[in-house]
Amino acid sequence: MSEPTVHTDSTPRERSAMLHFPEGFMWGAGTAAYQVEGATAEDGRGPSIWDSFCARPGAVLNGHSGETATDHYHRFAEDVALMAQLGLRAYRFSVSWPRVQPDGRGPLNPAGLDFYERLVDALLDHGITPALTLYHWDLPQALQEQGGWGARETAARFADYASAVARRLGDRVPLWATVNEPWCAAFLGHAAGVHAPGLVDPALSLRTAHHLLLAHGLATQALRAAVNRQARVSVALNLSPVSPAADTAVDHDAARRIDGLLNRMFADPLLHGAYPDDVRADTRHLTDWSFVRPGDEHTIASPIDLLGVNYYSTKTVAAGGQALGPSPWPGAETVRFRVPEERPVTAMGWPIEPSGLTELLRWLHTRYPHTPLLVSENGAAFEDCVDQAGQVQDTERVCYLHDHLAAVHAAISAGVDVRGYFVWSLLDNFEWTFGYSRRFGITYVDYTTQRRLLKSSARWYRDVIAANAVPTS
Ligand code: FCB
Repeated sequence: MSEPTVHTDSTPRERSAMLHFPEGFMWGAGTAAYQVEGATAEDGRGPSIWDSFCARPGAVLNGHSGETATDHYHRFAEDVALMAQLGLRAYRFSVSWPRVQPDGRGPLNPAGLDFYERLVDALLDHGITPALTLYHWDLPQALQEQGGWGARETAARFADYASAVARRLGDRVPLWATVNEPWCAAFLGHAAGVHAPGLVDPALSLRTAHHLLLAHGLATQALRAAVNRQARVSVALNLSPVSPAADTAVDHDAARRIDGLLNRMFADPLLHGAYPDDVRADTRHLTDWSFVRPGDEHTIASPIDLLGVNYYSTKTVAAGGQALGPSPWPGAETVRFRVPEERPVTAMGWPIEPSGLTELLRWLHTRYPHTPLLVSENGAAFEDCVDQAGQVQDTERVCYLHDHLAAVHAAISAGVDVRGYFVWSLLDNFEWTFGYSRRFGITYVDYTTQRRLLKSSARWYRDVIAANAVPTS
């Protein structure tokens, strides 16, 4: 990729004060269907595993659900106008499988497909590139009742669904992602039980991870057959650099295990065509891995055009003692996660580590040198509130975004091929187990009136996009 470009219409002083991004860098923001759409029982949408999970007492903070969310299903035109106001070049959204195919197999719901077509057309009318994710965790409940992602069959159903969406939108959507964060869907959903479908079964969670990856591979092939030839296909992984808390053999081993389960277990089969031996060995007491059939790893490694990287923080780990209950780390349940004391954290308690993003992008570039990268999610929750002047001055988020964009720039300057950056999120929304208590948006949403209000970070981001550059400090 070419060096970051220098704008010729700025003075030398301004030039040195800005970090310029490559021409055509894709500036975007993201959301996901269940987190923003609402309208869960409208126009023929079927129930999803998140509807069922939210209905379970105690599963989600304050009993919240995505039933209304930010009402994006009805307000998408207003939201697209907002994106245009910010100058977004791209919008990453997900399609709700049960809205398009209520039972996860068989008949399609034309009204569901119509909705996404209206959204895509509105984006295109405003010159905003639609970046469509096929699966952001809302499996049709009907498929869960037939085994969900624990059943190999679900991967084939996903490829059919991918074809159906591609047949309708494949001529207009230039950027596709199959699955969002299979680690979360598999391990938070099936080992820790804190995400839908809320199961606690470490062996099942590993099988599930494989079926999600297989679904990605099959869907990639299905998309290639149905979308136009310029369209690009990707997958979005949540990845983090992992380091040992202390320079001891046991902490190094803990770091290797967590890195294996979080990073290499997903990226290796996708980009090297094989699961890591150490991850298989670490989990051998839970499963014999016979769910991996001959040819599966080849399918999973079907070529992709871009790897989506969702980055929020680094992980520092120490070897532990006893497991403290259900864990999202099958075979590494005793590992402890530490937040180094001096480190600032977000409202999620996640350490703020911009340099970890440079490190991660550089590591990916070294390990998988042929795959261009896209930062498909990055952002932070803070305690935002509307002040007396009616503004949301989210200075901490501006700093967070600034420092992470500078980190992306550093990776690009070091030769890493990063094609774009998507802020998580365009809007405050339903933050899964945390309900509406965590605000990640650059736009504030008043959940009683559904009024949208640009936060300072949105205005700051608008200026970044317009300049194709970030101030040095
Ligand atoms: C990611 C999810 C996204 C959002 C952010 C904060 O793991 O993909 O939906 O919840 O975290």
